[in-house]
Amino acid sequence: MAKISLPTRGPQARLGIDIGSRYIKVAQINPSAHGLQLVNVGMAATPIGSITDGVVNSAEAIGEALHQIIKYFNIKERRAVCSLPGRSVVIRQVTLPSNISDKEIKVAAIGEVERFLPFPLDEMEYDYQILGDIQTGDVKQTSVLFIAAHREAVQKRVEAVRGAGIDSIEVDVDPLVILRSTVESALFEDQDTFTQTILLIDMGASATSISILKSGILRFTRIFAIGGDTLTHAIEAGYGLGFLEAEKLKKEKAVAFLDEERMDLDPESREINEMIKSHLDTLSLEIRRSLAYYTSKDRGEGVTKIVITGGGSMLKGMARFFEEDLGIPVMYGNSLQNISYVGGLELEEVAKMVPYMGIAVGLTLRQVPQKILGRYCLRVGIEPKYEFGSTTQASSLSS
Ligand SMILES: Nc1ncnc2c1ncn2[C@@H]1O[C@H](COP(=O)(O)OP(=O)(O)OP(=O)(O)O)[C@@H](O)[C@H]1O
Ligand SMILES: [Mg+2]
Repeated sequence: MAKISLPTRGPQARLGIDIGSRYIKVAQINPSAHGLQLVNVGMAATPIGSITDGVVNSAEAIGEALHQIIKYFNIKERRAVCSLPGRSVVIRQVTLPSNISDKEIKVAAIGEVERFLPFPLDEMEYDYQILGDIQTGDVKQTSVLFIAAHREAVQKRVEAVRGAGIDSIEVDVDPLVILRSTVESALFEDQDTFTQTILLIDMGASATSISILKSGILRFTRIFAIGGDTLTHAIEAGYGLGFLEAEKLKKEKAVAFLDEERMDLDPESREINEMIKSHLDTLSLEIRRSLAYYTSKDRGEGVTKIVITGGGSMLKGMARFFEEDLGIPVMYGNSLQNISYVGGLELEEVAKMVPYMGIAVGLTLRQVPQKILGRYCLRVGIEPKYEFGSTTQASSLSS
């Protein structure tokens, strides 16, 4: 049975599979003499009802849909890596005395994290990785990264991928994956990534996750249960429409804005915005609270840039809304910007998939050898003060 695991760099990338609540995305990036090359990419709708709040209800339906994607996009790779959403995982960084043996590290790390786990350890899959030594004055300690998820959540995702005819499967965790895709690829040439504090907002369908990176290192993550579909549902309820009609209307007419006075909107757009505005305001308020919390704990080290990704970020006006409401410059993330495409699709078709590809790209990058990732690339790491989403969110898996 495949287990949750932290990356080990291998010679060739696997197919990254992001099973989202609205879309399943796949990507494969291989290193070559000419840099990183995107050899496979594709996406299609997740079967309705097969995932609720990040929990897989029908592995069979997802497996079948994934099988169709693999066939349609003519993908031959049969080794894959998928991942679990932030709300289903526990990530902790622990510091241990540096003089203990590798064997003792496992026991000591478990001892440190056990009280944060939402389920008994024997019901969870976990992995850990020694990040290195930390020297504070005369004291030397070892820093260890620990990840865990409920076994059933891991198994359901593995079962779904296996259903598509893939039998070599690894499982990662979204917060670390999105960090990898941003640090190792998206902002490659942008030195700010390694010197500034950046907020990443991944707006999916069912949820929005945020991560704060300081100097390329993950410091904080949190997940809010408001995503693109929350807005669609609001329009659905407001007009008494079906989901697909509401979705179409959202894409055509909905706009995120701060101040209606300044907007030149037609009456229908105005009406739609009445329906969605409270959700956007709540999301922004939650993000502002997290920023204030992080800033207060980090002695005023404020975020200087926001990067938004995910299908939900494509709502008209989204970047400007966050920029004005949070008072921080916003840019759209592009995890493929330094990667050349060598597959058979039209480039416009690939370009349309870019906002959705953060996780799939981060997944496939997990096995690209470090030295090939480029001279600016930093090791993906987390610091002692790292905070994970929340164990209460993980415990919702049992309900
Ligand atoms: N042009 C657009 N305007 C507004 N929303 C859009 C647009 N295009 C896509 N979306 C929204 O993006 C969402 C899908 O994005 P994405 O694929 O990132 O989510 P997901 O990964 O499937 O979900 P999750 O991460 O929550 O499991 C949907 O809610 C969809 O309505
Ligand atoms: Mg997603």
